[in-house]
Amino acid sequence: MSQGLALLRILADGRFHSGEQLGACLDISRAGVWKRLRALKARGFDIHSVRGRGHRLAQPVELLAVDRIRAALPESTRTRLASIEIHDELDSTSSTLLERAATLPSGTVCLAEAQRRGRGRQGRVWHSPCARNLYLSLLWRFPRGPEALGGLSLVVGLAVLQALADIGVGDAGIKWPNDILRDDAKLAGVLIELSGESGGASCVVIGIGINVDMAGGAEPVPVDQPWTDIVTATGSAVSRNLLAALVLQRLTTTLDRFQSDGLAAFLEAWRARDLLLDRQVVLHGARGKVSGIARGIDSDGALLLEQEGLIQRHHAGDISLRAASDGRREVAA
Ligand code: BTN
Repeated sequence: MSQGLALLRILADGRFHSGEQLGACLDISRAGVWKRLRALKARGFDIHSVRGRGHRLAQPVELLAVDRIRAALPESTRTRLASIEIHDELDSTSSTLLERAATLPSGTVCLAEAQRRGRGRQGRVWHSPCARNLYLSLLWRFPRGPEALGGLSLVVGLAVLQALADIGVGDAGIKWPNDILRDDAKLAGVLIELSGESGGASCVVIGIGINVDMAGGAEPVPVDQPWTDIVTATGSAVSRNLLAALVLQRLTTTLDRFQSDGLAAFLEAWRARDLLLDRQVVLHGARGKVSGIARGIDSDGALLLEQEGLIQRHHAGDISLRAASDGRREVAA
């Protein structure tokens, strides 16, 4: 366990712990305790220190725990998962699985309390503060080649939406290909990476980041796009362990259905949650910007964009929404 998180684990209950007790538990000096307290404060944790009583977190924190996640999983999901590993801090849960992909079985799950180099789509950074959000990656093997996986990233987005609804956020939607937004602000993101293929089989690493309580810390949030989180949506704290279990449940069910029935089985659900449908959008693609009206997706998951009465299919790119009301505000999420 990393040093800072060992202290956080003791303070997580929100009760007072004396400096002596903390020093003894961690086998460090009083000065060492202060140093680690300062480090936790610098990470955005609000710590109250009271002479004669000790130190406590202003708000208790529920850290990720394999037994809690497992306890919240139905048997049908547990059998689809090979293992669940939780790290205090690493560069990226997806990078960790990609590095070991050749030897890992399908259904390996990697979670972290914090990521040093969280990665988003299009080479963006995914802000990954400690113990505030969910950073989860799943390695999954498909018996067919990558050409059969068109639409995978879309259905994973739908699975995340289902998990969010399960936990009380029923009003989020999806922006092609897989940005999860609420009130035009980013709530969650999905990053799908192909790890390898051989003999007609493929292995993917599915990375999911969900903003749970971004603003809970004192840290400013260095995100260059509108963002929101679950706490803002529900008005109360949620269990990240339960959220992880819900994501895994919805995800494994979705992956199995996608494998048997393809994207066709999800087109209706997509239409119901498609935030772009019939909206004026700008697609930022490899060949520059294209404006048009979004008309849903085709059976391969390509975005249908209407320009001057003609529908064009687009397989890649980043979308900005234009607010219908003033035609000026662009929200790149
Ligand atoms: C996006 O840009 O919308 C995708 C964000 C994906 C972030 C998740 S967090 C867990 C996994 N590890 C990463 O480094 N990225 C993904």
